[in-house]
Amino acid sequence: MLLLFLLCLAFAPPVVSPEYTRPPPRPVIFRQFKGPESAPQQVHISLAGKDYMRVSWITEEKSQSVVEYGKAAGQYSASATGEDSMSYRYFFYTSGEIHHVKIGPLDPSTTYYYRCSGGGPEFTFRTPPSAFPIEFAVAGDLGQTEWTESTLAHVGSRDYDVFLLPGDLSYADTQQPLWDSFGQLVEPYASARPWMVTEGNHEIETFPIIYPQGFTAYNARWLMPYQESNSQSNLYYSFDVAGAHILMLGSYTDFDADSDQYAWLLADLATVDRSKTPWLFALIHAPWYNTNSAHKGEGETMRVAMENILYNARVDVVFAGHVHAYERFTRVYDNKADQCGPIHVTIGDGGNREGLAMTFESPTPSISMFREPSFGHGRLRVLNNTHAHWLWHRNNDTNSVTADEIWLESLISSTHCNDFATLSKSTNDEL
Ligand SMILES: [Fe+2]
Repeated sequence: MLLLFLLCLAFAPPVVSPEYTRPPPRPVIFRQFKGPESAPQQVHISLAGKDYMRVSWITEEKSQSVVEYGKAAGQYSASATGEDSMSYRYFFYTSGEIHHVKIGPLDPSTTYYYRCSGGGPEFTFRTPPSAFPIEFAVAGDLGQTEWTESTLAHVGSRDYDVFLLPGDLSYADTQQPLWDSFGQLVEPYASARPWMVTEGNHEIETFPIIYPQGFTAYNARWLMPYQESNSQSNLYYSFDVAGAHILMLGSYTDFDADSDQYAWLLADLATVDRSKTPWLFALIHAPWYNTNSAHKGEGETMRVAMENILYNARVDVVFAGHVHAYERFTRVYDNKADQCGPIHVTIGDGGNREGLAMTFESPTPSISMFREPSFGHGRLRVLNNTHAHWLWHRNNDTNSVTADEIWLESLISSTHCNDFATLSKSTNDEL
């Protein structure tokens, strides 16, 4: 009887919604740049401190690190010059010249036209608003497959202000030309709206003795505003946008109580003024809460080290990636439902080559409110100081279908959790 039971468990079908047939992985897309060696390619932008944007791009040959920009097409009333470009080596691969230039001050909610290295095609972006409403598009574990292309098309089909990516970008996995291909694939989106990313395990790319620290390509290509947020490392930082403060935490760098990241997190939170940024969000890669059998427990050490800090700071939502599925938890702290804890959302469903994480544990734990192994992306629309709307869109092949949605009330506006004075004190006590 016991054997029969174990056999049933071993061959139990995955727990999935019955009305939707799960698609298999789709092939990797490889995009090769066809332009001249002097032409800018892989253009992407990121927020770089209040009213500033960082423009990043690559040229095959050395060229000037200059961005010309203005509010009308073809009319560049301003320009900014950055430090000289750099390239990196990874075994026998040598990257192109990587440029990072900060431009600004820029006006909010304004469309700018720009070009890089003194020529090439014109790009355009819109700055985020200075106040609510603001809309974030969120998807992790993107990769570069035909499913990624589908997700990006859905992201681009409806307007948004900022893209948030909780780790695992290119899935190059040491094959450096795939970083270039990824840069080509995302350029139409990442050159038009700021892409704010944190690292996943696929960014590590360590090799004993030669590349012991890892993140060579990631740090060179995807420079984030860590210096602007007083962080010592590109692997963790924070930024403000509209009325939100966003913590981009590093799952693959030290996070224990003696670490630089831990000290930085406490110092960063001590500077947060919730009257100016009433919403507080965090991104990590390996989820702290996960009822999928994939990557079970991998975020546990970080949860134990840092969960009380985020809880005391009244973080509203924690977004994670890593698990290739969607899952939304209730407000939770220390493995129990808690009305003052963050909502945890796993959104590692961008569409990478590894495919979906199909199996969830059964029965469903009471803290897990919605879970589904499908590719897709999320939308967080913060309407005002108190209310936000979260939507999860499933990729039904070429269609984007709303599969989950919830209204959120900011913790700081909650009558149960707005112990702001106590909160400031407890955060300072940690310091
Ligand atoms: Fe991952």
